[in-house]
Amino acid sequence: MAMSLASPAPLLTILLLLSLCSIGIAMAAASYPDFQLLNVKQSLLETKMFHPHPPKPSESHQLSNVTQTGDHPQKWKLKLLHRDRLSSNATSTFHHHRRRFLSRMERDVKRVAAILRRLPDGGNHEGDASYEVKDFGSDVVSGMAQGSGEYFVRIGVGSPPRSQYMVIDSGSDIVWVQCQPCNQCYRQSDPVFNPADSVSFAGVSCGSSVCERIENSGCNAGRSCRYEVSYGDGSYTKGTLAFETLTFGRTVVKNVAIGCGHINRGMFIGAAGLLGLGGGSMSLVGQLGGQTGGAFSYCLVSRGTDASGSLVFGRGAMPVGASWVPLLRNPRAPSFYYVGLSGLGVGGIQVPISEDIFRLTELGYGGVVMDTGTAVTRFPTSAYNAFRDAFVMQTTNLPRASRVSIFDTCYNLSGFISVRVPTVSFYFSGGPILTLPARNFLIPVDDIGTFCFAFAASGSGLSIIGNIQQEGIQISFDGANGFVGFGPNVC
Ligand SMILES: *[C@@H]1O[C@H](CO)[C@@H](O)[C@H](O)[C@H]1NC(C)=O
Ligand SMILES: *[C@@H]1O[C@H](CO)[C@@H](O)[C@H](O)[C@H]1NC(C)=O
Ligand SMILES: *[C@@H]1O[C@H](CO)[C@@H](O)[C@H](O)[C@H]1NC(C)=O
Repeated sequence: MAMSLASPAPLLTILLLLSLCSIGIAMAAASYPDFQLLNVKQSLLETKMFHPHPPKPSESHQLSNVTQTGDHPQKWKLKLLHRDRLSSNATSTFHHHRRRFLSRMERDVKRVAAILRRLPDGGNHEGDASYEVKDFGSDVVSGMAQGSGEYFVRIGVGSPPRSQYMVIDSGSDIVWVQCQPCNQCYRQSDPVFNPADSVSFAGVSCGSSVCERIENSGCNAGRSCRYEVSYGDGSYTKGTLAFETLTFGRTVVKNVAIGCGHINRGMFIGAAGLLGLGGGSMSLVGQLGGQTGGAFSYCLVSRGTDASGSLVFGRGAMPVGASWVPLLRNPRAPSFYYVGLSGLGVGGIQVPISEDIFRLTELGYGGVVMDTGTAVTRFPTSAYNAFRDAFVMQTTNLPRASRVSIFDTCYNLSGFISVRVPTVSFYFSGGPILTLPARNFLIPVDDIGTFCFAFAASGSGLSIIGNIQQEGIQISFDGANGFVGFGPNVC
C-alpha cells in the first residue's frame, strides 16, 4: 500500500537525503524498492524556475571533416540549455507557470501529431483521436509564438565563427540556420547569420549528390540546391543548401551541409536554427559518419537546477557501466531511434500488457521511439490505460485533483512535504529495467501543489519516450554498434 507522509519540517533534511538516494537510476534485473519518495516541497520550489531535454547516428556517408584543437580527440562536449532559459522572464505567478505549462503541452501534442504524420499509416492509428489540440481550451497561448524545440546548444557558424543558439532534435535530419538576406525570419537572440561575412560558406549546386539526399530538394534559378522542411506545427524553413564550417567548443567541423534559410517561421524561440541529430544521413551525426563512430551522449538537465545539461559527440563519450539496450531501425522512418520495450512496471510489479503492443513490426508500425523533442511519454491507449490503472490502484491514499491538459491522473499534494509513491519502471528487451526517479513521472503542473502522472495515450500504435522521463539520466547512442545506453550517471 502506498502511504503519504506529511512530514514535520525538521525531517525535511533527512527526507531530502532519502529522496536523493532514490533519484539514482536503478537499472538491475531485480531488487529495487517498490516505493520511493517524491519531494513535493522541493518540486514546487523548482516550478518557480521551471526548466526541462536531446539525440542518434547512421551509416557512414561522411561528408564533413573534423579537426580538433582540443586535447580530447574523438570527444567534444557542449552545454545543453532548456528553452525556458532563453525565453523565460522569471516572474513565476500561478498563471504564468500554468500558462507556460499548458503551452508546453500544446507544443507537445503538435510534436506527436507531426511524428505520426511521418510514419506509414500515421503510426498505425487506433482510431482514438481524443488528443486534439482543441482539447486545451481557449486560454492557451498560441503554440505558434512558442518554440518547437526544447533544448538548445550554442555553436559557431561560419568562418570566423558566429555564435548561435541551435535547437537540438533527435527526430530530424537536417541542420539549418536563418540566413541573410532574410525574406522572412522570426526573431532570434543573435544577429542573423550572413553568408557574405563567412569565407568558408560554399553553395551547393542542384546537380550535386548532396542535394539529391535531401527530401523535397529542388533547383533555384541560379542552379543552387533548394531545400524546404516543415515541422507539422506551422513552423518551417526554406532556403538554399550550402557547405559551411561549424565550431563546437574547440572542435571545428568543416564542410557540413547546412540549410541557409531565407524564409523561416517558428517556434524556435530565440534559436538561430536547428541541429538535426536523427538517424538519417543528412543529420549532423549522419554527416560525421565514421569520425565519431555514430556516437553521442546527452544529459537533459533536470527541472529547477541551474546546471546545464550536456551533449557530447564521439566514441569517447560512451560511458562505462551504462545499461545497454539494442537500437532498432525502421526503414520507413530512418530518422527515428527505436528501442525494444517489453513492459512497464508499477510498484515493482509488471503491469499486464502484451509485449506485442510495443513491437515495431516489419511494416514499420508500432514500436517505441526515443525523442528529445517530445516532452511527455506516450503509449498506445490500451497500454497507457493499464499502466495508469496500476498506478492509481497503488496511490488511493493520495487526494486526487481534476485532469489537466493531456493528463487524466492528477493529485492535490498541496500541504504535503513529501509523499510515498510506487516505483515506475520501463522493462527493456533483453532484461534491463529502468526505474525512474519520482520526479520523472509525477510532475507539478502549477505552483499550488497539483501534480500529474506524466504519461499520456498516443492515440496510435506508436510509443514515444519523452524528455520528461529522460531528464537527469545520461543517455548514450552508439550508432555503430546499435545500442542505446542508460546511466550509469545521473546529471
Ligand atoms: C577531409 O580531409 C581529407 C584529408 O585532409 C581530404 O582528403 C578529404 O578530401 C576531406 N573531405 C572533405 C569532404 O572535405
Ligand atoms: C521581460 O519582460 C520585460 C517586461 O515585460 C521586457 O521588457 C523584457 O524585454 C523581457 N525580457 C526578455 C528576455 O524577454
Ligand atoms: C487541495 O488541498 C488543499 C489542502 O488539503 C485544499 O485546501 C485545497 O482546496 C485543495 N485544492 C483543490 C483544488 O481541491
